[in-house]
Formats: sequence, structure tokens, C-alpha cells
Amino acid sequence: MIINTELEHKGNQYPNHIVFYEKNINTLLFKTENGVSLQLTIVRDSILRFRYASFVNFENDFSYAITKYAKTGYNHLEVTETDQYYIVTTSKLICNINKSNLKISIFDSLDFSLICEDEIGYHWEESYDFGGNIVKMSKVSNDGESYYGLGDKPDHLNLKGKRFENWVSDSFAFGKYTDPLYKAIPFYTGLHHGKSYGIFFDNSFKSCFDFAHERKNITSFWAYGGEMNYYFMYGPKMTDVVANYTDLTGKPHQLPALWSLGYHQCKWSYYPENKVKEITSKFRELNIPCDAIYLDIDYMEGFRCFTWNKDYFPDPKRIVKELADEGFKTIVIIDPGIKIDPDYHVFQEALDKDYFCKRADGPYMKGKVWPGQCYFPDFTKAEVRDWWSDLFKELVEDIGVRGVWNDMNEPAVMEVPNKTFPDDVRHDYEGNPCSHRKAHNVYGMQMARATYHGLKKFAYPKRPFVITRAAYSGTQRYSSSWTGDNIASWEHLWIANVQAQRMSLSGFSFIGSDIGGFAEQPNGELYARWIQLGVFHPFCRTHSSGDHGEQEPWMFGDEVTDIVRSFIELRYQLLPYLYTAFWQYLDEGIPILKSLVLYDQDDIQTHYRTDEFMYGNDILVCPILEPNSKGRRMYIPRGKWYNFWTKELIKGGREIWIDTDLDTMPIFIKAGSIIPKYPVQLYVGEKEIDEVVLEVHYKLGKAQSLLFDDIHDGYDYTKGRYSLSKFKLNGKANELIIQQHTTGKFITPYTRFKLKFIGLPFSISKIEVDNVAIDLPNLNEVKTNFELIVDKNFTEIHLM
Ligand code: NOJ
Repeated sequence: MIINTELEHKGNQYPNHIVFYEKNINTLLFKTENGVSLQLTIVRDSILRFRYASFVNFENDFSYAITKYAKTGYNHLEVTETDQYYIVTTSKLICNINKSNLKISIFDSLDFSLICEDEIGYHWEESYDFGGNIVKMSKVSNDGESYYGLGDKPDHLNLKGKRFENWVSDSFAFGKYTDPLYKAIPFYTGLHHGKSYGIFFDNSFKSCFDFAHERKNITSFWAYGGEMNYYFMYGPKMTDVVANYTDLTGKPHQLPALWSLGYHQCKWSYYPENKVKEITSKFRELNIPCDAIYLDIDYMEGFRCFTWNKDYFPDPKRIVKELADEGFKTIVIIDPGIKIDPDYHVFQEALDKDYFCKRADGPYMKGKVWPGQCYFPDFTKAEVRDWWSDLFKELVEDIGVRGVWNDMNEPAVMEVPNKTFPDDVRHDYEGNPCSHRKAHNVYGMQMARATYHGLKKFAYPKRPFVITRAAYSGTQRYSSSWTGDNIASWEHLWIANVQAQRMSLSGFSFIGSDIGGFAEQPNGELYARWIQLGVFHPFCRTHSSGDHGEQEPWMFGDEVTDIVRSFIELRYQLLPYLYTAFWQYLDEGIPILKSLVLYDQDDIQTHYRTDEFMYGNDILVCPILEPNSKGRRMYIPRGKWYNFWTKELIKGGREIWIDTDLDTMPIFIKAGSIIPKYPVQLYVGEKEIDEVVLEVHYKLGKAQSLLFDDIHDGYDYTKGRYSLSKFKLNGKANELIIQQHTTGKFITPYTRFKLKFIGLPFSISKIEVDNVAIDLPNLNEVKTNFELIVDKNFTEIHLM
């Protein structure tokens, strides 16, 4: 519920004329006659940071979102002055600061086009409810401007004309348009006249964004406390904007272990242990690949975190080992609520050490969650996080749990109207003590961070795996995430697609939904369609509340089981492709899933597309979102594409109809791309991989593809023990040349590539590998479905 509008002019106050200016290296300070300060920092040539303070000093400069690894530094900085403006020029931007009212206008320094301009700009309203200010910013919305980002909003991908709130909230069975949900990611991208910029409003209080909703030509954002503190990022390419935001707020601290990109099976709850074994055995019996099995809250003793119910799991170490022997990694849930129970060591320890959150007047913050009345650790204090991370020693190091699932960390509290802590609860906030109003949006993030450090410590030398429900900007550094308690409905399949894309546009790529829906039960058709989408999400897990029947891949009859198996198999075949895309995300900050607008912002057809998206660089996917579909219309982006199923080459830049019975969905491969594939495995590492398939999609012209590989877990890759192959393809009317250049010190276990050529427009009369002619019979009869096995270290293949 949004109480204030940006426009409540009666209480609004505004800066007046500048009376003071000072430059200190890359930070400029302006003060107005009526006591407003603006601190403008040139972070990079394309990133400016704006901080405003009214009548007061700036707050202690602290952010949970910004990573210390963010790139800073610029090539050019010049500040000049006219009668009306201070003018800041970098190699990418020109920023005018209006001397009479502190308003900002930002231009592209190459062609002087206007990118973003203040309407009222900074203004504020004193709040009598909580003391302090509601800090506000309003900007002109340009002709034809579109907006993207903002995390998990279950709304159209293009945010224009809408208003949203950021306040992480437990939202069981949320719906289309429910706002807010579980994440607070106050970052958006604007796109107009072919150019894109981003704004990250780094303020953890409840914040709101209005994209030309209240007033048609104005976009505004505001927060109920804290500073107006935002980063402006210029593209002009949207990929650069998102990459810059991801660089500022951080990329995952390490690659995910390859197994965590496999398929995961979850339910609330699998217990006792023989039920778990029954499920995992069935996966193996039916040859359905699966790498992870989840234990929801019932594995614990009375829902006490870090305990086991000994009736259900008499010997946790044994069962975890037995599962591991079958290739299953065990992932357990851990919630923030610690049961009030003097006989429970976690509770007693935290009490003794004074680690629980307190109300403003002194008593502990008491709230009901699954175990009954609980206290909650203050994860905004480093000492508490350290203690928490140590609690994972037994679970991870001794019992062998491979991943931890942080849930209810909004934090969710039951049976209270606001579903979370009251506003007055106190937090440390890294030595900047504050109320819950400020700490609420980061609480879950800090819990995931503490959990991450525990896993990192005790899983070493293996990589940690954490999944969190609540998140603030920057949480992607520590954890993967899912979109929360969705519903088994076709509408929610649409929502899952949009949310995964939007999270990706918001710097958070390791994301997926509860496949099949958490609440209620899907029929086989919906489940099959959901799996088809889910295998193209970086995080791929079936989960359900368990209240309405079973949701394993085999629960919907043989036809659906076969379809589900084939799509999970496809995910496993494409693991080297996904792993490479993940590596690129870590390297460049470019999302794994790319909405069409991110893929081709110059094509205005993409600005309002929601369903189609790119999986990695080269695979175009479009889920079937309606029952009884025999196909659908979809937009094919510009360029040439091969139908994944029929291998037909089609020209994009248009909408077309695609036939898709239940066993297929629209998938297209970009012409020119080389797609690496592994053999199907029942779990990562099941097979020694001695050959990697490269599917070469002919194109007239040049293209480049990548293949990243390493040992799939551990940190060796950070010391250069990885293998990165760049494939350059050059297609001519009667020739195809593929060159490979490999860097890195990792020797892949596979020794050869099997190349499959798709779409060759000529009959082959000669093949040379590294300038040596290959002897193949009947070459001139070969045209399609042609396969060539070569040493993995080839440098050039020439087909003529
Ligand atoms: C709420 C979570 O969103 C859901 O995934 C989980 O199964 C239940 N809590 C029970 O732990």
C-alpha cells in the first residue's frame, strides 16, 4: 500500500540557488542558499553518483549493496561553469547542474543528445509519522521512453505507466500485479531514442517508483527515510547499463558448482528418510536426471534450525552419504526464527551473546513462525553473521549437506497484520544503529550472506550453494534465489517467465521459479509446459507445498514423464553452454537470460515483448503459456535463426506462427553459433566425458562462440586452471571455416569434439583440419546431418 504520492505538493520543499561549490578529486559538493547539499561523485566515465542532504550533514556513507570490488576510475573529467550551469564532462557524459535550482540534465558527450533530465529533481517532505524526510526525485519521462528492471515485480516487462513499492514481503500465493513481493531491487533502466541509462536508488528504506503513472510525462522515485542517494549509469547499450549495475552491486563471488545447474527436486516436505530414498531411487529408475534433493522444515526437531528429527532421520550423515552415492546433493532449509527454548543450544547461545533483535524499548523482538514463538538474530551485525556462519560446521563439514535454503527471511512473522517486524525493532546495521524501517529490506540479504560464509568455510574446497527468498540489491553476490510461493496456474507460468527475465535485467541471474507451482496442483499439461520453461532458467527446481498431491516428474502419466525427461535431458546436454553463459555473467555482468529488448534494443518491436527471451547468447526460447496449444505466435528477433527441431532456417524481424505439440516448444538457434553439448547424464559427474558435441549452425558471414570449462567445482579456475575456447566461424557461399583459440591452464578430460553441421548450403568436396586433408568417403553426397570428429585442440577446420 502506497500512502504518499510523489506529488503531495503541500509538504514538498525544494532546493534553491547554489551558493557554494567545491571540487575534491572526483567528488563535487554544491550547497544551496536554503541549506541543501548535493554531493556528485564521478564513479566512472559512465557512472555518476548523486547524494542530497537537506539542512543536515550527509549520513555515514555505508551501503550493503555496493561491492568493494566495483570498478572505479575515469578517463576524463572536466568541470566548467557558465552563468546558468556547472558543467561536468567525462568521456561518456555531460552533466549540467542548474545554479538556480540544483536541477540535473545529463547528455551523451558524443552527440549531445539529452539522456535524462530532472523535472522538479530533488525535493523532500518532512514526515511527522517517523521524523526525518521522505526524500523524492522526479525526472522527465521522454517521448517513447520504456522502463525495465525492479527485481521480481509480477507485471509486464515494460514498467511504463505503472507504480511499484520496494518492501520485501512474504507473499504466499501472490498474483499477477501483487506488489511488493519478496525482493527489493531499486534499480531500473530507461530506454528512449535508442539509448539506455540506468538508475540505482541505493536506499534500503521502503521506496517507491512511479513510471509515468501519476503524471504522464514524469518518472519519480522516493523513499520513506534515508538519503536521496542514486547512481546514474549510462549505456547507451542496455547491456552496458545492466553490466555496470551488476558490477557496482557485485557478481556472484564464485562460479556455481556445475551440479547446482542441474535439475533439483523439492517438496514441502520429503520425510522420513525412506520417503526421500524412494523419490531419489525413482529418478534413477526412470532415468530422469536430477542432482539435488531438498529437505524442507520437517527434517528438523520441532522446526529448530540446525537440529534433526531423529525419528525421521535417525542418522543424517548416513542418509546424506547414501544420497550422495547416488549422485544426489542434499540441500536443507534454514529459517531465521530461532525457537524460544532454553534447552536449545542455538537459542541459548544467541541469548547469552545478545545476538537477537530487540524492540526499541528493550525487550526482544518476539514473533511466531513455524517453531512457535521465536527470536531473530540481527544479521546486520558482523559478529552475529560470523556466529551464524559457524553454526553450519556440523551440517556441512560433518553431515555433508551441500547447500542451504534460506526461507522466511523477509523476515516473515505469522499472525501479525504487517507480516513482519514492527518498525521500531532495532538493528546494528554495521555500527549505524537504526530501526527496522531501514534494515527490513536488507535483513534477508544479510542472512543469506552469513549463510553463504558458513557454506564457503565448511564446504571448502568445494563451492558453496545458497538459495534465498528475500533479497536486496547485491544479494546475487552470495546466493541464488527463487520467486517464492507461486500458484499452479497458467497465469503463474507467465509470471515466472517475466520474473526470471526481470531479475536477470536487475543483476540477479541465478533465478528460477517453483516449477509446477507451489500452491495448488498443476495438471500434466501445465507441469510439462512449466518444465519446458524451467529448464531454461538458471536455477531449475520443482517445488510444491505438498498439500494438493505429488509433483514429481512421473506423477502425470507416461506421456508427461517422457516429455519432462526429454527436457531435463536437454538441460543436461546444454550444461556446458549454460556454464559458459554463467562464466560470462561473472566476467562481464551480462545476464544469462536476456529479454528481447536487452538483446536488440534498436528494434522497437522488442520494447513491449514479454514472452520470448534469449538463453545465453545464442538460444531463443518462447514458452507455451496457454492450455491446449498446438502452437503460438512469437516474435523472432532480427537476423537468421534455425528452428531447433526442424533445422529450418528462418529470417527474423517478424512475428510468426510456430507449431508445437505438447512435446515441443519454440526454440531457435542463432545462425553462426556453435552450441556445445555434453552427453545426457543422470547427474553431473556420472560419466567421464570424453567427447563434446559442437553443433555448428552455418551462417553466411562471421560469428563467434565461447566454451568455458574447468573442473566444475572448487576454486582452481581462479588460478588460471580453466579452459576458454573462442570459436570463430566464417561462412562463405561454398566454404566454412572454424578457428579455435584456447586460453587457460585446464586440460579438459575430453579429447575430441564431434562437430555436427547444420544448414550447410553447399555439398562438401573437401575437408581440412589444421591444413591436413581428411579422408572421408562419399563427401560430395554429404550435406546435412554431417558429423566430423576432431582432436579438441584443432586450430582450424575448413570445409569446402
Ligand atoms: C515458504 C516457502 O516459500 C516454501 O518454499 C516452503 O516450502 C515453506 N515456506 C515451508 O518451509
